[in-house]
Amino acid sequence: MQMKAKAAVAIGALGWMLAANSSAQPLRATTAATHPQKVEDSLAQRLQACTPCHGQEGVATAHGYFPRIAGKPAGYLFEQLLHFKEGRRGHTAMRHMVQPLSAAYLHEIAGHFAALDLPYPPPERIDVSDAVKQRGRQLALEGDTHKQLPACIACHGQRLTGMLPATPGLLGLSKDYLTAQLGAWRNGLRKAREPDCMRHISMRLDDADIHAVSAYLASQALPAITKAVAAGPTPKEPACAAPRTT
Ligand code: HEC
Ligand code: HEC
Repeated sequence: MQMKAKAAVAIGALGWMLAANSSAQPLRATTAATHPQKVEDSLAQRLQACTPCHGQEGVATAHGYFPRIAGKPAGYLFEQLLHFKEGRRGHTAMRHMVQPLSAAYLHEIAGHFAALDLPYPPPERIDVSDAVKQRGRQLALEGDTHKQLPACIACHGQRLTGMLPATPGLLGLSKDYLTAQLGAWRNGLRKAREPDCMRHISMRLDDADIHAVSAYLASQALPAITKAVAAGPTPKEPACAAPRTT
């Protein structure tokens, strides 16, 4: 598969592109004295290594599996890079890449992608019945009291564009990716820091719910303002995405 071949090249390239950066001065180019021919060595240039999978500047597309990373809250991206590094998320290539990188460097990478403000592709066209559409909408916007499920918007923001500091938006991701993440949480293959609210939520979603809510989310257009909202004065479950103290 062409994508796989590209990915393998990317991982190989990352070995030196990223690891060269884990020295004491992680983000500075080495001095002109050691490299008489000045080689451009900016963070943005190093992070070109992410583009074979995440798309140019991390925007991905509405199709295919690779998630968009551009414009997500820095706190969320940083958490994910640590999840891969520390084994709470299991994607082999991602784990392999972030393993040797320091937390400080991962923080810089998260900040870089969070600051990008780039257009989103149009939403996926998904053909499902009206009943499935209705169920997806209900889960996302209202929740289901019988199943003790809060609405997704309670934490992911009224317009589903995320909530600061570390809850991601749910729009602009493919149905395949969303389905896989909810399934992985339910099966214990994806974890977040305790209290890991998504684990409890995903365990109350059956397969039909996951299908419905993922189809609903993947087929929504982005609102005019795509940035994550500030946490409200009384966030529903502030501990779900509490800032790191260390
Ligand atoms: C070989 C392909 C590949 C490359 C190269 C790659 N990624 Fe990923 N990345 C993935 C896949 C696939 C996922 C989704 C993994 C999963 O299912 O949990 C992912 C997930 C992520 C996530 C979590 C996104 C979210 O919404 O939770 C972040 C952050 C991320 N990658 C950052 C990076 C950065 C930064 C780089 C470059 C240093 C990079 N990735 C390079 C394939 C790749
Ligand atoms: C109580 C708060 C809360 C509620 C309610 C909630 N979430 Fe989440 N969700 C979170 C937090 C916090 C994260 C980030 C977890 C992490 O660090 O990995 C998250 C992450 C996610 C992700 C990962 C996104 C990505 O880019 O990989 C998906 C998918 C998701 N939630 C779907 C849902 C759906 C669907 C609903 C509604 C059925 C929902 N969530 C309701 C708190 C919540």
